[in-house]
Parts: sequence; C-alpha cells; structure tokens
Amino acid sequence: MSQLVITEIEDADVAAISDLWARCGLTRPWNDPARDIAFARLVPGATILTGRLDGTIVASAMVGHDGHRGTVYYVSVDPDRRGKGLGREIMAAAEDWLRRQGIWKLNLMVRADNADVVAFYNSLGYETEQRVNMAKWLDPSKKPA
Ligand SMILES: CC(C)(COP(=O)(O)OP(=O)(O)OC[C@H]1O[C@@H](n2cnc3c(N)ncnc32)[C@H](O)[C@@H]1OP(=O)(O)O)[C@@H](O)C(=O)NCCC(=O)NCCS
Repeated sequence: MSQLVITEIEDADVAAISDLWARCGLTRPWNDPARDIAFARLVPGATILTGRLDGTIVASAMVGHDGHRGTVYYVSVDPDRRGKGLGREIMAAAEDWLRRQGIWKLNLMVRADNADVVAFYNSLGYETEQRVNMAKWLDPSKKPA
C-alpha cells in the first residue's frame, strides 16, 4: 500500500505538474501545459489532482465533466514510479471526484499510438466502446499544421 497523498492542484504545483507531463510524453506542441492547467482550474467542472509521495509530485490527472459525462486527461505517473499501483490510485481519486459531482459515467480517449495504456485502463475496468470520435477545431488557428 503506497502513501500517495492526493490533493487538488495549487499554484505552487504548476511547474512540477508541467514537468511530470513532459517526462511522461503527454505534452504536444499545440497543447501548452501551463495554459491547459490554468484553464482547467478556471472552470467549475474540472480540476487537476496531484499525487505526492514524501512531498514530491509523482502522479496527476486532469478530471472534469461537461454536465453529462466525465473525462480525464494527462493521467500520469512518474516513469521511475510505475507498476506500483499509483496510476490505479490517481484514477480512483478522479472517479471519486466525478462521483461527488453527480457523474456516473467516465469516457476517456487514448491516442492510437498509446496502445499499452489500453491495457492499463482495461485493468481498471474500462471497456472499449464502438464509437467514432469526431472533433472540430473551433479556432482553426490552433490546429497543428
Ligand atoms: C498509464 C500509467 C498512468 C500507468 O501508471 P502505473 O502507476 O504504472 O499503473 P499501475 O501500477 O497503477 O497499474 C494498474 C494496472 O494497470 C496495468 N498496467 C499499467 N501499465 C500497463 C502497461 N503499460 N501495459 C499493460 N498493463 C499495464 C498494471 O499491470 C496494473 O494491473 P493489475 O492491477 O491488474 O495488476 C503510466 O504508465 C503513465 O504515466 N504513462 C504515460 C502517460 C500516459 O500515457 N497516460 C495515459 C494518457 S491516455
């Protein structure tokens, strides 16, 4: 049993969380982590959970809902701390956060080049549903070339 201490993000955590996401390969040129963190903290239906071991941030998840379904982004565990159940713990905290908001279903997306992570989510009880995931850039200037 780990001693992962999970709390909502605070101002002083932003740099460490951005660094964790980068080390986990989750940042993309078109997603500025500092901006994504600031925006998630601004809206009432979202937050970022941080998981600490001995005071050091080793896990995180952005969790939120749109008034109907919940979702998670940036689910991350420090590469040096994987395989010890921390991913399961941070996801359990994200699920609990959504339940407290009255949300009873979580939908999440996994990038096609991140197939290993499907096994992680399967272990946590997630199933692949046959859906077509569609998207539109509402601000085309932000679309990667
Ligand atoms: C995915 C990630 C969060 C998993 O964290 P973790 O702490 O290693 O996961 P856990 O130790 O809690 O594993 C939980 C379960 O998932 C399984 N699992 C975890 N990673 C796995 C992998 N790559 N392949 C197969 N199974 C995996 C574990 O075996 C475990 O199963 P069990 O409890 O039935 O034995 C971590 O690998 C990570 O940060 N990856 C990079 C970021 C990323 O891709 N995030 C997902 C974005 S969609």
